[in-house]
Amino acid sequence: MDTQLKNRKIVLGVTGGIAAYKACTLCRLLVKGGAQVYVVMTESATKLVGKETFEALSGHSVSVNIFEDSKDISHIALSNDADMIVVAPATANSIAKFAHGFADNMLCAVMLAANCKKVIAPAMNTNMYHNVATQENLQLLALRGMYILSPDSGDLACGTSGDGRMKEPEEIYEDILAIFSQDLEKLPHTKIGIENHQEKLPAPQQILELTQTKLLPKSFGAGFNVLITAGPTIEEIDPVRYITNHSSGKMGYALAHMAQLMGANVTLISGPVNLNVPLGVKRISVRSAVEMLNAVESYVNEADIFIGCAAVGDFRVESINKNKIKKKDGEEGLTLKLVQNPDIIATVGNREANRPFTVGFAAETDNLEENAKKKIVKKGLDMVILNDVSNKSIGFNSDDNEVSVYDKDGLVAHIEKQNKQVVATSLLELIFNAAKK
Ligand code: PMT
Repeated sequence: MDTQLKNRKIVLGVTGGIAAYKACTLCRLLVKGGAQVYVVMTESATKLVGKETFEALSGHSVSVNIFEDSKDISHIALSNDADMIVVAPATANSIAKFAHGFADNMLCAVMLAANCKKVIAPAMNTNMYHNVATQENLQLLALRGMYILSPDSGDLACGTSGDGRMKEPEEIYEDILAIFSQDLEKLPHTKIGIENHQEKLPAPQQILELTQTKLLPKSFGAGFNVLITAGPTIEEIDPVRYITNHSSGKMGYALAHMAQLMGANVTLISGPVNLNVPLGVKRISVRSAVEMLNAVESYVNEADIFIGCAAVGDFRVESINKNKIKKKDGEEGLTLKLVQNPDIIATVGNREANRPFTVGFAAETDNLEENAKKKIVKKGLDMVILNDVSNKSIGFNSDDNEVSVYDKDGLVAHIEKQNKQVVATSLLELIFNAAKK
């Protein structure tokens, strides 16, 4: 029994790929781990593995058809209190249907109705997987918060070899545990967002041509290497305690995602967050400010643009306690000595050689404009993006932001409160334009 699965209701979606047989192992593992598993199959999946097999493994009826199955396993009943839907294998056809909101079979209807964690394990022929249509559909699903467990490379049922082999059930099982633990840094086998498959993705410009023309200015970012920091940093106190902040990474990830869609080559250096890596973006995971600085220094020489969106901790404890700090009788409190962390963006902004166009954020609660303008000078910035983090509906951990953009000459633009993806797009237009000059 795994604690992460105790009292969990998991819907296991099985679609019509040869890897459907591997879903039997996954089902068995989940049941053994303590989850209540309800299997939903597509009609074509039943041609590969019988309903009865999953009924025996899960101990529950298996649903296939919206109208024929009994009331207690209607799509609403299944989706209502599910903790997670895992679709393994997910064929190109089902992925396309999920991306476009189809509800023409039981699994699609459950996916559409459910408001829970959703995990997709694609399995298909390598050309189908790399087709722009499939990649865009996966990108859409990742953008909506689904976990995409990138397939492995290897021999495929169609006789060819390449990407498209569904991850092994044991690996998917570990990913599920990690997702429930909300501990994405520990995802053992997952390349969420295909971070290692970057070179095999269709060229970003190609994606842009096909889908984003209405949303994004075409090719604005083409030719730029963009380095972005995002999320919080974590400063350990002892093995069980740490200092951090409220950054969710949403703003930085939106910038990374949109910059990639606008044609840029994006590297994202991220503190611990609970977000999927945007498709085609290379993510480097770090924890502390010093680790973030080291990662930035490894990549900054190649960067044309650096955007410091991370909420970097200004202080860390002078020395991390090796053992858990214990309460001592007779002592009222505990004094921790904090020392200053390096200022990452100032290190980049004040470089003499290989200095990228440098954009900082200013998270302010008072004297907003004055403080933001001071940061331009002090940190050697080309541009600063000011957000008022005293307003809970924008800034830290919200889906929206509202920002003012300044350069050395003063206010450049004010971007009204909108979703962070939209704010990111407007910001990137300004940044790419200014960096081109
Ligand atoms: O992640 P979200 O929940 O979506 O929230 C987004 C955000 C509020 C974190 C983001 O929009 C934001 O404002 N990021 C910067 C947060 C911050 O640390 O602001 P600051 O004013 O303390 O720092 C100014 C700049 O210096 C920032 O670019 C920061 O990345 C950088 N900095 C700060 C300290 C330090 N030691 N090194 C740095 O590089």
